[in-house]
Amino acid sequence: MTRPTTPRPRRGERGQGKLLLRALGGERIGRPPLWLMRQAGRYLPEYRELRARAGGFLEMCLTPELAVEATLQPVGRYALDAAILFSDILVVPYALGQAVAFSEGEGPVLEPIHDPGGLARLGIAQFETRLAPVYEAVAQVASMLPVGTALIGFAGAPWTVASYVVEGGTSRDFATVKTWALGRPQEFSRLVDLLVEATVEHLARQARAGAEVLQLFDSWAGVLSEAEFDRWCVEPTREIVRRLGQVCPDVPIIGFPRGAGLGYERFVERTGVQAVGLDPAVPLVWAARELQPRCALQGNLDPALLVVGGAALRRQAERILAAWGQGPFIFNLGHGVLPTTPPEHAAELVEIVRAWQG
Ligand code: CP3
Repeated sequence: MTRPTTPRPRRGERGQGKLLLRALGGERIGRPPLWLMRQAGRYLPEYRELRARAGGFLEMCLTPELAVEATLQPVGRYALDAAILFSDILVVPYALGQAVAFSEGEGPVLEPIHDPGGLARLGIAQFETRLAPVYEAVAQVASMLPVGTALIGFAGAPWTVASYVVEGGTSRDFATVKTWALGRPQEFSRLVDLLVEATVEHLARQARAGAEVLQLFDSWAGVLSEAEFDRWCVEPTREIVRRLGQVCPDVPIIGFPRGAGLGYERFVERTGVQAVGLDPAVPLVWAARELQPRCALQGNLDPALLVVGGAALRRQAERILAAWGQGPFIFNLGHGVLPTTPPEHAAELVEIVRAWQG
């Protein structure tokens, strides 16, 4: 089957030969580029060692030497095609003035905001100063990467970041944030507008410091009903993509509205992203037919298979390669690496993808 590849005007001079940038430019590549969401993290012994030395997780994100070292760890260990900046989506609410802490074993804890009084405490006055160390880390990594390795900057998408801002941490049912969004949408949109502005700023600064690709994580897009998905995921993403197109037109954007189901189609049509990240539940044939003619695909191996390894890992990785390798495609997981992953299984996956001949 021949598939139309979409030539894109938004391709800059820097790093023309990098596989990731070529795939994002709409090219079908014999051996697709590979990186792993959450490729730096607790499954790596060298990360656990660095983390123990660093003290707090937020300190690690805000100390350039430590963030640089964590970013480079997986790239040094495996032949990956991209490095993703070591940071977190919650540095944005931190820089807007919200109290954010990461307590051991508990995940993030934020001082929750669910009304206009709380909103009034957030603002962009301190934003750039507070995040200066992040941009410094980007610049350092950019100057240190191997020639073929692309650098990815990232941010959380407004809906997902808002869920942490409002719930005060990871939620089971999203009751508080949904009640606000559905019950007082005009008021909630002030929070989303602020997050759109902060996200554009944060991503543009990463691009200016040397990030060659930007990814927007909308990890909780899948909890929204159709109209809410449109309003709080698709539209803010579209606005972010539009504004970034004005300030850094050469930097491709990967959108990842995890769990969007059939909504992935509308997301791709409306937002203008160069690639879409797909979760493990997305049917392979459907995505190749409905999404790949419009943009590059990224995903979607179940992270649990990377824990399992062996024949099961190989079987599904090869299914994905066969289904999506005929068009613009970036091999990745369908969500982040699990902390229980044996590091040697990531090496197995790298070998499978590198050996594949489409
Ligand atoms: O991919 C990478 O290697 C880059 C680093 C990265 C981290 N977080 C480091 C991190 C990225 C891209 C993220 C994104 C992120 N952070 C998301 C979106 C992607 C997703 O997983 O859905 C979300 C929702 C967060 C918020 C967050 N940060 C949570 C819920 C937690 C605790 C749970 C967990 O997975 O540990 C974090 C902490 C965090 N962010 C860690 C790392 C390496 C673990 C911190 C530690 O060392 O204890």
